[in-house]
Amino acid sequence: MSIRSFEQHTPHIHSTVYVDDTALVIGDVEIGEDSSVWPMSVIRGDIQRIRIGARTSIQDGAVIHVTHDSRFCPGGQPTLIGNDVTVGHKVILHACTIEDYCLIGMGSIVMDKAVVRSRVTIGAGSVVPPGKVLESGFLYVGSPVKQVRPLNERELEFLEYSAQNYRRLRERHLQMTGALILTGDAAAPSSEPPPPAPRSRKRRSAPPKRG
Ligand SMILES: CC(C)(COP(=O)(O)OP(=O)(O)OC[C@H]1O[C@@H](n2cnc3c(N)ncnc32)[C@H](O)[C@@H]1OP(=O)(O)O)[C@@H](O)C(=O)NCCC(=O)NCCS
Repeated sequence: MSIRSFEQHTPHIHSTVYVDDTALVIGDVEIGEDSSVWPMSVIRGDIQRIRIGARTSIQDGAVIHVTHDSRFCPGGQPTLIGNDVTVGHKVILHACTIEDYCLIGMGSIVMDKAVVRSRVTIGAGSVVPPGKVLESGFLYVGSPVKQVRPLNERELEFLEYSAQNYRRLRERHLQMTGALILTGDAAAPSSEPPPPAPRSRKRRSAPPKRG
């Protein structure tokens, strides 16, 4: 995996997080327990901070960045992502806030200072314009996004399922890299062949702090 410091900031990644070898995490980034960062995704906290909570998945090819301090945006703007969030494949999150239990559909773009309240689903390929606030408990789709309808019970349940599903998948990938040694029931013998020996991991600068 590539986890790099930028100036005085080193990514702080919980020891239970899966970061794929091909993902890139730079600078002022914190990632919480049981989260996962999938192939080819980029999380670049160079000019502001990025915070990602627990059990959140950042799926393949996602790009997460921030906005710098300038007269156009005094203080700059971080990207803040809560717990149990599913960030779909090729999503772009730019200097925005995503609260807990959201699903950001594949290929969507969430722009500066947008706020996605908790338990929102955004349909694939949507665009959330700068500063827009999406109300909790609704489905939004389109470019620009429009509120479609309240999420039903099954869809609300799916938001929790999705986070747990990726938490489990993270564990299986960690097991393949040798980074996670399962104990108890999870270590019960299986008919599958044993995982390969641990691979060496390349690091380009200071090792990440893993909490
Ligand atoms: C939006 C979504 C959640 C559910 O759609 P749905 O169950 O079909 O919802 P509805 O049937 O209520 O559809 C509402 C309307 O939005 C349309 N719609 C559905 N998905 C859409 C999308 N991504 N973009 C634009 N419109 C969409 C439907 O065609 C329907 O339009 P209509 O009323 O004119 O017929 C689903 O289509 C989707 O995009 N899921 C994202 C999945 C994903 O990216 N997961 C992350 C990777 S794990």
